[in-house]
Amino acid sequence: MNETLQMSEQATPEFDGYASSYDTLLEDPMRGAFARDPLHFHRRKWLLIQRLLSKAGVEPSSLRWLDAGCGRGELLNLAGANFKQAIGCDPSAGMLSSCPFFAVHQQKSPFELPFRDASVDLVTAVCVYHHVPEEARALLLSEMKRVLAPGGLCCIIEHNPWNPVTQAIVQRCPVDADASLLTASSASGLLRVVGFEPLSTAYFLYLPESLFNRLSLLERFLVRVPLGGQYAILARRAGDSSYSDGMRRTRVISGKQCH
Ligand SMILES: C[S@@+](CC[C@H](N)C(=O)[O-])C[C@H]1O[C@@H](n2cnc3c(N)ncnc32)[C@H](O)[C@@H]1O
Repeated sequence: MNETLQMSEQATPEFDGYASSYDTLLEDPMRGAFARDPLHFHRRKWLLIQRLLSKAGVEPSSLRWLDAGCGRGELLNLAGANFKQAIGCDPSAGMLSSCPFFAVHQQKSPFELPFRDASVDLVTAVCVYHHVPEEARALLLSEMKRVLAPGGLCCIIEHNPWNPVTQAIVQRCPVDADASLLTASSASGLLRVVGFEPLSTAYFLYLPESLFNRLSLLERFLVRVPLGGQYAILARRAGDSSYSDGMRRTRVISGKQCH
């Protein structure tokens, strides 16, 4: 592991410094004008995840879901009951402490997920990767692949750097001081490198909350236009030839609690 990654391993999780005043830190007039209720952003993500799963022919009720980098667990709280099992993890104990969802675990290392090989069917990472150092992204994604069962699905949701409003909000948000946004094509490239097959990419968050409630169909026509405020990529674990080797080894993360 290189020096930067070693330093990230040892550092106090960045979000511990934001957790106690998280809502205040996220306040922004443009964000507030887009959605008065901050939960709107989580609801939009859940709607989109449902649509992407349905397009892939998968029922949430058949899936064990892990939300990696779940933060305060709003998405888990909103959607968890629809899955066979829903769990979360995050390196920041501060963020997890205000999580109303009980099945969450702290990641002792930012680059290791505290779960067994092949133990979930869907893993999501929502607005996580722009906080992960570029040189560590493949490492974290390999972990997401490791915990997925054969044929399992991965969904990455990220800010879209092509959207000027997103750029403006990110540039002045204290929580995003370290952010390095990734385009959907670079996220897809990363997924491929690690051994995922991207199935679909959808851009969303074009319309503010007030218009979306009346014109949601319009956003459906725009899913392929790469200008939405955020995007989601659904990918499947490609070729599982290494899976049987992995199962034979049945790796238990050394010295860490594994669920
Ligand atoms: C912007 S918050 C998003 C939280 C949540 N997913 C949501 O959508 O509200 C980013 C989260 O990513 C977490 N994070 C940062 N680096 C991570 C890593 N290497 N592995 C997992 N989570 C990480 C942070 O602790 C923080 O809770």
